Amino acid sequence: MRTTVGIIGAGPAGLLLARLLHNAGIDSVVLESRDRAYVEHRQRAGILEQGTVDVLRAAGAGERMDREGLPHDGIELRWQRRRHRVDFPALTGGRSVMVYAQTEVCKDLIALQLKEGGPLLFEAEALAVEGADTDSPSVRFRHEGREEVLECRYVVGCDGFWGVARQAVPAELSRVFERTYPFGWLGILADVPPSHDELVYARHDRGFALLSMRSPSVSRLYLQVPAGTDADSWGDEEIWDELERRLETADDWRLERGPITQKSVTPMRSYVHEPMRYGSLFLAGDAAHIVPPTGAKGLNLAVGDVVTFARALSYEKETGSAELLDAYSGTCLRRVWQAERFSYDMTTMLHPAPDATPFDHRLQLTRLERVAASRAAEADLAEGYTGFPLD
Ligand code: APR
Ligand code: PHB
Repeated sequence: MRTTVGIIGAGPAGLLLARLLHNAGIDSVVLESRDRAYVEHRQRAGILEQGTVDVLRAAGAGERMDREGLPHDGIELRWQRRRHRVDFPALTGGRSVMVYAQTEVCKDLIALQLKEGGPLLFEAEALAVEGADTDSPSVRFRHEGREEVLECRYVVGCDGFWGVARQAVPAELSRVFERTYPFGWLGILADVPPSHDELVYARHDRGFALLSMRSPSVSRLYLQVPAGTDADSWGDEEIWDELERRLETADDWRLERGPITQKSVTPMRSYVHEPMRYGSLFLAGDAAHIVPPTGAKGLNLAVGDVVTFARALSYEKETGSAELLDAYSGTCLRRVWQAERFSYDMTTMLHPAPDATPFDHRLQLTRLERVAASRAAEADLAEGYTGFPLD
């Protein structure tokens, strides 16, 4: 099998890349180790930055998002039973976000790819990238019980944090920057209308809580829990009681309860692999970087990477110049590090660490007070949340 761009992984990064290349008249093949149902039902975050929304529309993948997605113009911060709304358009010159689940983005892109795009092979597991330092790299993969080779001009590793693509970068050229947090998020899906019309990020001495949503009738909520917590060790009523405590306000706001349909724990990690390119191999999305979920940057960063790659390859096709491909890693990393900083700031402002001192607690409260009191501080948060520009 032969193609111009071999794409490993059919998460949002790989699927959107295949679509962007198709629109630019560049052929690709996508290899995905899991089956279609698994990819379409994996629960992930659900906030699309303004720039992500624009990219999906321009790629012809925004139709259902525009019909079913929920445009949001702000978030609420809570601490010490107080509430403070951050108004995105007012602080950013008109930018906002869209609540539309990553699973839905994937479903839309898969349907488009199967209808109009090049091959997308499910249950095709990449085993290794070979010849990354040459102009004819290949991906060895297993499909329908046979081992096969996909010969390419470029390979893009969109295979997530646990994928194989990153392993093809020689160890002596890799630099890894990493931080793990001593807590994770216990996430639930519940069949109950969201108790607030915007997302609520709450800092409480007992831990962080987040109220989010998937639709007008489905809520998504999270609780900070110690790292390594087993989701089943929390009973349903216990989860609601704890959410109620952490989200409590001084006014008459109430949390509505409903049947919990799903429960899982997400670990929290910050991770960057540099460089994001080695020869003919490019890394995109979670394959190159991870952010903790506070602020929902993961999907949006993946989108930025593949847009950058598709633009660079189109430029090479049109002009013969590899200038933008050569700039890929640096261009992506500038934006990645801004999102790493933003996600770290949001995480450390809102999550009391298990070893936090009274000084640390006071500082967290002071950071929140600052956002509420200073338009400059609030605008900084709003800019980060609605997303850093793609340059
Ligand atoms: N061969 C083929 N496919 C693979 C392999 C492999 N060896 N290893 C992993 N994959 C597939 C996974 O099954 C998954 O479908 O690669 C895909 C990677 O997708 P994601 O993990 O979703 O990563 P990415 O597309 O970069 O999306 C960015 O944003 O919200 C965050 O972390 C969240 O997934 C999200 C990310
Ligand atoms: C989600 O809805 O899953 C979500 C929303 C906001 C975040 C993280 C996750 O910051």
